[in-house]
Amino acid sequence: MFAKKTVKDVDVRGKRVLVRVDFNVPLADGAVTDDTRIRAALPTLRYLVDHGAHVIIMSHLGRPKGEPEERYSLRPVRRVLQRLLGRNVVFVDDIVGPDAQEAVGRMVDGEVLMLENIRFHPGEKANDPEFAKALASLCDIYVNDAFGAAHRAHASTAGVAEFVPAVAGLLLSREVEILTDMLADPEHPFVAILGGSKVSDKFGVIDRLIEVVDSLLIGGGMAFTFLVAQGIEVGDSIVEQDWIEPARKMLEKAASRNVQLVLPVDFVIAEAMEPDVDTRIVGREEIPAGMKGLDVGPTTVQLFSAEIAAARTIFWNGPMGVFEMKAFEAGTREVAVAVARNNRAVSVVGGGDSVAALKKFDLEERVTFVSTGGGASMKLLEGTPLPGVEALLDA
Ligand code: 3PG
Repeated sequence: MFAKKTVKDVDVRGKRVLVRVDFNVPLADGAVTDDTRIRAALPTLRYLVDHGAHVIIMSHLGRPKGEPEERYSLRPVRRVLQRLLGRNVVFVDDIVGPDAQEAVGRMVDGEVLMLENIRFHPGEKANDPEFAKALASLCDIYVNDAFGAAHRAHASTAGVAEFVPAVAGLLLSREVEILTDMLADPEHPFVAILGGSKVSDKFGVIDRLIEVVDSLLIGGGMAFTFLVAQGIEVGDSIVEQDWIEPARKMLEKAASRNVQLVLPVDFVIAEAMEPDVDTRIVGREEIPAGMKGLDVGPTTVQLFSAEIAAARTIFWNGPMGVFEMKAFEAGTREVAVAVARNNRAVSVVGGGDSVAALKKFDLEERVTFVSTGGGASMKLLEGTPLPGVEALLDA
């Protein structure tokens, strides 16, 4: 259940509709290298075009410092959007100044216009009310479809909603609905797989997931902090000293709730995180000083795959190892394969790295839902209200 109004609850015909999207996409040599986030916004944009709105698009790209920087211009994104939408997208090199106002004033029903990177203005990240008001003056209705940026309380994600009727786009509402439903009413067994290098980034999510899942499989660098918490020596592997005690408490919490918290039993180890380095597979208690674990080992893969195969709900966030390097990709690849293979389960994958892994192994189409939000999906799952959602009108 999504508790906010969406674009379908308002009459947009002939109205100036300002849509916040998350077109924070990777670029190389001035070209978009992954258009997933642009494609994900198409349903809302098409809906608005088809319903005769004047569609004004705004987004951030990268982290410019409140002033224009050519390398963060949205022009390359506009080219891709134009192709995907199959229609002209007017681009203005401005945000709230006279050029933007004039261009918006000239729009006709069904036309699409894109503003320059919203973070070129210092008022954006500061959530400056004057800037938010200026954004609001460009439109009659504000639509937030930027799920990936919904955890930011910026002028274009939250502030603007104070000055104009504000509703959700179709992507944002779907993301929130899928992630909240997964926590509220999952089919069991519910298996969550968490990876990535830091426990500190995921602790809130682990804490919340432990209350709903049947098994929690932990891989990636953060597994070592848990192993140390169990008194296991892990050589030179990454460990967050300050999180050993919280990890120990988390192990206790899992045990007291009868949740299986499964840690790796073997690792691929090497002296350094380098592509052509010599590697070995060892049991988790056999990592010598001077060596570090950089991927989970084959026995762990079997263990994790068996849990994943039996699941009816799967949530996956974070790689099992340094999957960008061939020598350390197997753990992440095999987890991705196991998730993809279980077609009886609802499988949800969130977070930049696990999504990148799915793409790398060409398995993206084989899971139920891929979230476009990294930080935002983590915040939502840990139960932190998202400013970009809170600001919208209640349904
Ligand atoms: C993301 O890529 O996670 C979102 O676009 C948010 O970007 P930010 O971390 O720069 O706010």
